[in-house]
Amino acid sequence: MKIAIGSDHGGFQLKETVKAYLNENGYDVEDLGCFSSESVDYPDFALKVAEKVASGEFEKGILMCGTGIGISISANKVKGIRAALCHDHLTASLAARHNNANILCMGGRTTGPETAKDIVDAWLNTPFEGGRHSRRLAKIAEMECKK
Ligand code: RB5
Repeated sequence: MKIAIGSDHGGFQLKETVKAYLNENGYDVEDLGCFSSESVDYPDFALKVAEKVASGEFEKGILMCGTGIGISISANKVKGIRAALCHDHLTASLAARHNNANILCMGGRTTGPETAKDIVDAWLNTPFEGGRHSRRLAKIAEMECKK
């Protein structure tokens, strides 16, 4: 599976940890930055990853900022993106099972490395349930067309 990954400075260290973990586990990861702890603006990296996922070039994306809040708000502005900010195994598995989230967001200042790996595993390994959840996602897609 091809996964695009990105962060701002607040998520940089966690991005490096998650990237190494994904590589160890055989995923094809492309890092779209940032590439140091120097201060940058999270919408720039949210846009890079979200556009790659929305276009279908990458099946999924993972984004991190200090809290995961700004970068998830930003990614959700791109049509077709369902970015979910997750803090634990349960929210990550439900983001996949119920919301079919195509981007996972986490906070580098709020989530430790081991929890982050657990979140990534839960999100990547939980299938979308479909059914009533597909109807709800179709309503979200309709909202995007009304913009
Ligand atoms: C950057 O200092 C910080 O605001 C950012 O990483 C993020 O937490 C925003 O939501």
